[in-house]
Amino acid sequence: GGEEDLAARPPVVTVMGHVDHGKTKLLDAIRKTNVVAGEAGGITQAIGAYQVSTEVDETERKLTFIDTPGHEAFTAMRARGAKSTDIAVLVVAADDGVMPQTIEALNHALAADVPIVVAVNKIDREGADPTKVRGQLAEYGLVPEEYGGDTLFVDVSAVTGQGLDDLLEAVVLTADAALDLRANPDMDGQGVAIEAHLDKGRGPVATVLVQRGTLHVGDSIVAGTGYGRVRALLDDHGQNVDEAPPSFPVQVLGLTAVPGAGDSFIVVDDDRMARQIAERRASRLRMAAQAAGTK
Ligand code: GTP
Ligand code: NA
Ligand code: MG
Repeated sequence: GGEEDLAARPPVVTVMGHVDHGKTKLLDAIRKTNVVAGEAGGITQAIGAYQVSTEVDETERKLTFIDTPGHEAFTAMRARGAKSTDIAVLVVAADDGVMPQTIEALNHALAADVPIVVAVNKIDREGADPTKVRGQLAEYGLVPEEYGGDTLFVDVSAVTGQGLDDLLEAVVLTADAALDLRANPDMDGQGVAIEAHLDKGRGPVATVLVQRGTLHVGDSIVAGTGYGRVRALLDDHGQNVDEAPPSFPVQVLGLTAVPGAGDSFIVVDDDRMARQIAERRASRLRMAAQAAGTK
């Protein structure tokens, strides 16, 4: 299809930052007041990625958020997060200031050429110094708009809820200014596995982010070295859905094997083709492992 087939899709926003600076708490707070209209308001997070909606200039806008861990052991996850996102929200606790994984996350976002919005969190805390955070990040090239730079900094508290609407607005404005967020929803689905595990009852469960096209129940897919017919799709509330359009995070059931986090997935014509592609991938991986083992 041509240009006319492209439709606006929600921005994918990855939340990054140092351990315990409040990424998950912030996302929980955002989610409580901004669940997509019409959905059950349960806040239990079935998956680490979800959609919220917010109103900017009297228009309803959807945003897809992905949470990442801040512990230093999870460098690879932060690198992957930065690569598969449209925007990074860098969370910095105002009482703690810039820390090693703040800088690491910042570097991943810069390397991936992803626009950054800074959430200066925990401003309810005694000892919070949001001005100091601005000065510290300016030294790394993230110059706040109010100092003449082009990075939006928003003071927030995940505990009191202060600044959360401003943060969402800053993300939407940054997306509108920097990105062409269009995708063709009529194509076969393609995307990336964010997380995957083996569930005792349900078998392999993969949380995937659809990046292009639409993924449907019944599609034949390959994800990493796993393949299969999509048996069910679950949204971020654990509800069954028939399809997942661009930027939509869903859990996929029906795969034969657990894909790796960061593996891409594609929809193919039928089960046979899915199996062939997956087996070819698996044998290529085995050969690479053997070659590495004989060195
Ligand atoms: P990792 O995923 O382990 O990297 O941590 P995180 O960044 O997700 O931090 P988390 O949301 O787990 O919060 C860490 C601690 O900070 C928790 O005890 C939160 O309750 C607390 N916290 C988070 N945000 C705020 C805030 O705005 N104000 C205050 N006072 N405490 C907060
Ligand atoms: Na934590
Ligand atoms: Mg967390």
